Amino acid sequence: MLEVKDLVVSYGAVEAVRGVTLTAVPGAITAIVGANGAGKSSLLRAITGLAPVRAGQVLLDGQDVTRVPASKRAGLGLAHAMEGRRIFRHLSVEENLRLAWQFGRRRNQWGEALDRVFLTFPILKEKRRSQAGLLSGGQQQMLIVSAATICEPSYLLLDEPSLGLAPIVVREIYHFFTDRCRENGTTVLLAEQMAAMALNVSAHGYVLRQGQVVREGPSAELVNSGLIAALSSAYL
Ligand SMILES: Nc1ncnc2c1ncn2[C@@H]1O[C@H](COP(=O)(O)OP(=O)(O)OP(=O)(O)O)[C@@H](O)[C@H]1O
Ligand SMILES: [Mg+2]
Repeated sequence: MLEVKDLVVSYGAVEAVRGVTLTAVPGAITAIVGANGAGKSSLLRAITGLAPVRAGQVLLDGQDVTRVPASKRAGLGLAHAMEGRRIFRHLSVEENLRLAWQFGRRRNQWGEALDRVFLTFPILKEKRRSQAGLLSGGQQQMLIVSAATICEPSYLLLDEPSLGLAPIVVREIYHFFTDRCRENGTTVLLAEQMAAMALNVSAHGYVLRQGQVVREGPSAELVNSGLIAALSSAYL
């Protein structure tokens, strides 16, 4: 179980998350949608221990991990695919995967884990010795989601996996993590500006605005409520 209670994240005077309470649906995808600057990334970063939490709690399987260092949270089965394609650009594709595998809570053998990635994304096999920074945007995103899932985490945080990608690549990435998560029973928090896509694959959704939850409910209900149209018009 992954829960957040009354969470407040602030960067000096800027309060990015203002009292958010949520529960990720176990073994399913929970969407966090909202416009630019709504606080989605700050919320996910606070869950992994990378953003300054001023108040509230992050609970993993009932354990309060709010003050546990980020480096230790991976060992508790938490993985985070960050926004903005964070990879080690000068290391090869295979070295990036290897590092992710070494730092996580390993439940599988390295060779097996690598074969699995290469089977899903053959292009990564072809480019296994290339510098990660030389991959295309879509290939980098494939590498990021592969690195985040290579240890079969219990909890996976995905921050805008669709950002800046062609629709066909987005579909491929979405298929990948929905399949992997269904297979492994992973609990996923998916932050997206693209509300339609995120609500389509999730069981439950939360809408953030200016750091607060303004709506929540089963994703199908949110879709039928006209929320997507309301959110998209808010971007225009
Ligand atoms: N490191 C930081 N220092 C200061 N302010 C920050 C920092 N990171 C984020 N903020 C501010 O916190 C607020 C929430 O930002 P955040 O990145 O969490 O939103 P978001 O929903 O992920 O947006 P986007 O959809 O653009 O990724 C914004 O006002 C942003 O400017
Ligand atoms: Mg963000």
